[in-house]
Amino acid sequence: MPAYTQIAVETHGRVGLVRLDRPKALNALCDALAHELLDALEAFDADPGIGAMVITGSEKAFAAGADIKEMSAKSFGEVLAEDYLGVWDRFPRLRKPVIGAVRGFALGGGCELAMMCDFVIAGDDARFGQPEITLGVIPGMGGTQRLPHLVGRALAMDMVLTGRMIDAAEAKAAGLVARVVPAANTLAEALKAAETIAEHNLPAVILAKEAVHRAEEVGLAEGLRFERRQFHATFATEGRAEGMAAFLEKRKPAFTHR
Ligand code: CAA
Repeated sequence: MPAYTQIAVETHGRVGLVRLDRPKALNALCDALAHELLDALEAFDADPGIGAMVITGSEKAFAAGADIKEMSAKSFGEVLAEDYLGVWDRFPRLRKPVIGAVRGFALGGGCELAMMCDFVIAGDDARFGQPEITLGVIPGMGGTQRLPHLVGRALAMDMVLTGRMIDAAEAKAAGLVARVVPAANTLAEALKAAETIAEHNLPAVILAKEAVHRAEEVGLAEGLRFERRQFHATFATEGRAEGMAAFLEKRKPAFTHR
């Protein structure tokens, strides 16, 4: 494994875990951290021994956003020429599921990173917000696009235009997170969910993730056609025969993930 300095990487059986590890900057997403995180996730994505991934931060902060110190000196010409934040385009290309385990602040790019995850399990101490407007800018890692998909236009406008933070309960009620759990259980719950996913027939998991994301990109009729083809494709996997045989024989399936 490469020597990372901004993150810590572990495996738990078939689950790959990445902890953001810049505690002094509340896990602000500097360029080096972004590259290490994406390198680590892509390595897990390519590893046949891994079936799902979890990203987490610290108790105080999942991530407090893009690194304001790093960003503050950049000119328009520089951000344009280097395509600042363009590195995050690598995230949606991950094929295996990624769960965000969020405690504390998930602000700006931190909230946007949580929304890039396939779903979020939040501790009851989590707080989400898009405060970019208070810095004179706007979200640049998907906040204006993924937030309205998840929570609707009214709350998205409220958060993006006022910079107001919402707590875990409001985030759950709005559909930003899948589950809220007692703070101390956040990572354990996320690992458990990831372990459940990682036990399933991997090709079916990949097809399912792709189909759910397609719902955000196309109209209903096209989405339903896509889903039917993905469903048909599961019949080409070893796991389809094994999963159904195991049900009929009243035993646990032994998936080969092929
Ligand atoms: N970038 C760089 N450093 C950050 C940071 C960030 N986004 N957030 C916090 N830090 C640093 C602070 O500068 C501070 O460092 P020093 O000790 O060297 O001064 C350290 O982390 C601890 O932070 P605070 O002292 O501010 O901690 P707090 O508990 O008083 O406040 C907070 C916590 C409310 C999260 C506050 O730190 C804060 O508001 N952070 C900025 C949040 C923000 O505006 N995020 C959006 C960034 S822009 C963006 O993300 C654009 C995009 O769409 C990609």
